[in-house]
Amino acid sequence: MNNKYYITTPIYYVNDKPHIGHAYTSIATDCIARFKRLEGFDVRFQTGTDEHGLKIQKAAEKNGVTPIELCDQNSQIFRDLTKTLNLSNNDFIRTTEDRHIDGAKYLWDRLYDRGHIYLGEYEGWYSVSDETFYNEKDLVKSGDGTFKTITNGTVDWISEKSYFFKLSEWGDKLLDLYNNDKDFISPVSKRNEVIKFVESGLNDLSVSRTSFKWGIQTPTDNKHIMYVWLDALTCYANGVNYLNNEEKNISDYWDNVTHIVGKDILRHHAVYWPAFLMAADLRLPKKIYAHGWWTNEGQKISKSLGNAIDPIDIINEFGLDQFRYFVLREVPFGNDGDFSKFALINRINSDLVNDLGNLCQRSLTMIEKKLNSIIPEIKSEVSNNKLISMYVNIINDGSLLVDSHKLHEYIKLVWSYVNEVNKFFNDNKPWELFDKDMDKFSDTLAVTAESIKKIAFLINPIMPDTSNKILTMLGVRIENFSFEQEELTLIGGNNLGEINHLFSRIDHDN
Ligand code: ME8
Repeated sequence: MNNKYYITTPIYYVNDKPHIGHAYTSIATDCIARFKRLEGFDVRFQTGTDEHGLKIQKAAEKNGVTPIELCDQNSQIFRDLTKTLNLSNNDFIRTTEDRHIDGAKYLWDRLYDRGHIYLGEYEGWYSVSDETFYNEKDLVKSGDGTFKTITNGTVDWISEKSYFFKLSEWGDKLLDLYNNDKDFISPVSKRNEVIKFVESGLNDLSVSRTSFKWGIQTPTDNKHIMYVWLDALTCYANGVNYLNNEEKNISDYWDNVTHIVGKDILRHHAVYWPAFLMAADLRLPKKIYAHGWWTNEGQKISKSLGNAIDPIDIINEFGLDQFRYFVLREVPFGNDGDFSKFALINRINSDLVNDLGNLCQRSLTMIEKKLNSIIPEIKSEVSNNKLISMYVNIINDGSLLVDSHKLHEYIKLVWSYVNEVNKFFNDNKPWELFDKDMDKFSDTLAVTAESIKKIAFLINPIMPDTSNKILTMLGVRIENFSFEQEELTLIGGNNLGEINHLFSRIDHDN
């Protein structure tokens, strides 16, 4: 059985530093990658940076540096962020690397050789900030007669020699693909939008530029550079050597690849990318999932408004796992959401401090003080039946939820377990049992500690550091998290490690 699972984030533009939107996609993708590892999959997780095109060239000019200097500098900032966010990515690809450039050229050659690319002249609208060509009907005319994208971005009229990909020939094949595999694009609302777009008719796509230089030269004509999206999309295949190095091919991963993207770039992933691959006789990704858009305190996040949230500021102020938990729990994955410090503080105080932190603190300090830090063995088979069956159900149901990208639902499910453990502890009132019913006292603490260990595994994809801290308090250290490993990790008889607060309460007027 192929138990390989490959998941990707978009590769981010290096014209500017990362903001909360980039951090969000990466954290959500990391959460899925970690959950699939818990299930025992051989997971590969790739992220990286998108470094060619006019947008980058212009940003470099503005900063008075060469494009590659800008790319080196800003790509490193995105790479550093993977560490700050505690991402478990196996690879970080840059589109200026040879392995990527080779793959992009290989795809071009395959399309060219098969007759899917022809020379013409592009005349129409182009948005540099989206690096996207627009039909006039998809733009909004402002009061002063100028055209804008629906997200209020500016567009320029361009007219230049260009190669075209015969996208117009792929409409029916794409619709067949969406109909034959209902999970290819999700969520459903976004899938429907893509279907509508394709049904309305596809134009051939301009896939090369001649008016600037910063890009990959097309292998068939050195006056043209590849359209940055044709270049960029190949990164997913290049990371597993599917296009660029057949000898070192680790393409087994390519049989099970999921692309996680924001809704802004779904069209490029769900229309252009599969059309390129089908035309080149190459295998398709399995799933494309488009998540929603974050606003900042109700406002669209944009450079011109100067309200982009730096994830590092939030992490420094509130903590990494607090931030990870909040973005994954607060907004249903797939929906738009609003970032507010007020909501973040509420989540920290209620879910993390009250529900999880207090449970660990109260029960483990009781073991420390009354049982000389030795975690008792579970004696009674009955007392924890409900908690055990609930845990097994969470793994099964959680698997379905994560596979359908309902990450907030998974967290809710885990929290129903946290609450049930709290209820078990409170209902048994161990603080009243000491000296009176020592069997029940130690059994209550044994079951609670065992359940806390299970919680540490369940929250591992969401808050990996907290998961590790809890296990360290329980006197165990886990290298490779898996549900199988959970069963093998016995804690009865263990000496507790040092008991520390997991989370601190935060005042709203902070
Ligand atoms: O589009 N809310 O790169 P990019 C949620 N290089 N997610 C957001 C967001 C927000 N407000 N803002 C950004 C590109 N994102 C191309 C991709 S892939 C072959 C090439 C996230 O730097 C979201 O994932 O503009 C979005 O799709 C991505 O960042 C766009 O990043």
